Amino acid sequence: MPTAKELLAEGRARLTAAGVAAPALDARLLLQHAASLATADLVAYPEMAVSAPAAVTFHTLVERRALREPVSKIIGMREFFGREFEVSRAVLDPRPDSESLIELCLAIIDTHGARQVLDLGTGSGNLLLTLLAERRHLTGLGIDLSQEALKIAFRNATALGLVSRCDLMCGRWFEPVAERFDLIVSNPPYIETAVIDSLQPEVRLFDPRKALDGGPDGLECYRAIAGEAASFLAPGGHVAVEIGDGQDAAVTQLFNKNGFESAGKGLDLSGKPRALAFRSV
Ligand SMILES: C[S@@+](CC[C@H](N)C(=O)[O-])C[C@H]1O[C@@H](n2cnc3c(N)ncnc32)[C@H](O)[C@@H]1O
Repeated sequence: MPTAKELLAEGRARLTAAGVAAPALDARLLLQHAASLATADLVAYPEMAVSAPAAVTFHTLVERRALREPVSKIIGMREFFGREFEVSRAVLDPRPDSESLIELCLAIIDTHGARQVLDLGTGSGNLLLTLLAERRHLTGLGIDLSQEALKIAFRNATALGLVSRCDLMCGRWFEPVAERFDLIVSNPPYIETAVIDSLQPEVRLFDPRKALDGGPDGLECYRAIAGEAASFLAPGGHVAVEIGDGQDAAVTQLFNKNGFESAGKGLDLSGKPRALAFRSV
């Protein structure tokens, strides 16, 4: 039987050859998954023997990663804001940068006492469910065009014990919505259509296109959301959206044109504006 150390070296070499960005880390995560090991096991006992079936599974997973499938989609799980979320090819892989949108929303909730949250384009449910888990007084509704995504969001709501405070509905943006909300949150698709084919394979091949494509100028979804948001906001309510790199001014202008003023900003891990908040003037 091969040792963990030998398998890790093989995996790292295969992933390096395939051009994967973090080959050692990814090999370790895949071995942990294949052999049901904790990080501490691999650090403390690198010479431990790995069973033949686990080694076969590991090699299969490494080949998938070599084809640039993200580790999260291979193991079916992604950590977001300290919680685990089921993911699949039906949903966008939750991004660490989206945690700045969560921080901005929590500040709004705490300052203005929001109680009902609407999440447009909920995907895996990571934004809505994180907010509900962080603030136990909230209830929420998540909307998505994709039934497959909503199935994942429902399983995540169940796993986090949040089903009783969370509704999920299928439709285009506000189409299925009949109430008003204190906070509307969205991380809509915001990549320019022409740019999608030049994105790294992990994104272009494994995130759903309808989670990425923001139309010719990347702003189509913001136009739709800014145009209708006022009709679905309770008095004093806020809208908070994630934006792509360099979209700060254009998205602010769109909301301004629709009767909103800026009400806060969140920066991503590299210090760029990544989340914007607005309220009705
Ligand atoms: C960028 S992903 C965000 C997923 C998740 N909220 C997150 O932050 O990781 C955008 C989501 O919007 C959904 N979507 C795209 N167009 C939509 C529309 N017109 N109405 C509702 N949902 C839409 C996609 O299916 C996708 O799940």
